[in-house]
Amino acid sequence: MLPAVIIVLSAVVSGCFTRPSINHLENAFSVENDSGEVRSEALKRLLEVFGMEDPPHTRGLHKQAPQYMLDLYNTVADVNGVTKDPDLLEGNTVRSFFDKLHSEQIQFLFNLSTVAKTEKVLTAELHLFKLRPQASVYFNRHHFCQVSVYHLLQNSKTNTSQDRKLLSSRLLSVHSAGWEVFSITHAVRSWMSDEGSNMGLLVTVRTLGGSDVDSKLVRFASGRDHHQSKQPMLVLFTDDGRRASSLENTNSDVPSMPLAPKLSGRAGRIARSLDPEDERLPCQRLPLYVDFEEIGWSGWIVSPRGYNAYHCKGSCPFPLGQNMRPTNHATVQSIINALKLTKGIETPCCVADKLFSINLLYFDDDENVVLKQYDDMVAGSCGCH
Ligand SMILES: *[C@@H]1O[C@H](CO)[C@@H](O)[C@H](O)[C@H]1NC(C)=O
Ligand SMILES: *[C@@H]1O[C@H](CO)[C@@H](O)[C@H](O)[C@H]1NC(C)=O
Ligand SMILES: *[C@@H]1O[C@H](CO)[C@@H](O)[C@H](O)[C@H]1NC(C)=O
Repeated sequence: MLPAVIIVLSAVVSGCFTRPSINHLENAFSVENDSGEVRSEALKRLLEVFGMEDPPHTRGLHKQAPQYMLDLYNTVADVNGVTKDPDLLEGNTVRSFFDKLHSEQIQFLFNLSTVAKTEKVLTAELHLFKLRPQASVYFNRHHFCQVSVYHLLQNSKTNTSQDRKLLSSRLLSVHSAGWEVFSITHAVRSWMSDEGSNMGLLVTVRTLGGSDVDSKLVRFASGRDHHQSKQPMLVLFTDDGRRASSLENTNSDVPSMPLAPKLSGRAGRIARSLDPEDERLPCQRLPLYVDFEEIGWSGWIVSPRGYNAYHCKGSCPFPLGQNMRPTNHATVQSIINALKLTKGIETPCCVADKLFSINLLYFDDDENVVLKQYDDMVAGSCGCH
């Protein structure tokens, strides 16, 4: 299991096997010796790639992800989790929350404590499942009702209109059934800036004339009385700002990761000693499957089970053809190396020159289901740089 993790990290850090290695670090990292400490360090680094400090606590292994989140995941990601179209999602994070109140009235409270303060709220929606009217009241004279969602401003027992602010209101057919979505972005923005102000949401149903509607006529599924798949849900679209480090930026991160040189050094030595043929293979993209079950993360990751990150391997000998996708710089370096004009100039490195993002659907600490997009996770092509 451990080598897989290490190869992942070295693939993220460097694709070139001729990087200088630091001897004393390599010794500390010998195969016989790489027990718990290195493993936990490697897993910690891998979690950081996924923007987490600790793996989420998963008490709810048996819990089902909301269908909306599964559908959303399948819309943005292919079977390997690779983003189908980068423009489908505006931000890079979608979070779902279930109601914590389970009130008898149409009133909800969502706990947003797992949302990082740095996340920018783009859109927030309340998803309610409207049930069919009960048969006894089916032939009611009302055909439409006005459904309004309010942001509760004070935790008071008085029902004055000053205590709530209208967020969204719509006419619905009394006879309809299915999901209804209301925008509640303003409320969620204010809760994010002041957590204590989250008093929840109240939904009212009125006739067109403004009077109360029989609660048997217009009903929404609740977390108390109905199947989990119909539970009221808050869906939050955010961006965590962890965006597209360009290839150059990714490389400049390397010196700040003290683990990087030993990992790439070791991976390099093993690759060479096991497989001397590789020296003669031209630079190319090869498979590298990252298996979340093997890493021990299958308890909190819903999808995918793993993904093919690919890796770049092979030599970049003179003369570099266009199929090697060389930069001008690499072409010149390769020429200088061939001419032996300057001592100590290596051939260029075979590295990922195009990277794709992947999507993860997972349970967070509070057992909410989150969809998150991570840039630069899959080598799309390799080239000599
Ligand atoms: C690792 O190797 C060093 C040097 O050979 C040795 O002193 C140390 O006890 C080893 N550690 C473990 C956990 O085996
Ligand atoms: C929200 O959830 C967090 C963590 O689960 C908990 O510590 C906090 O008390 C909750 N807040 C409310 C208002 O229930
Ligand atoms: C507040 O309004 C709800 C629903 O309209 C009602 O059931 C409740 O009795 C009211 N509470 C008070 C204190 O008036």
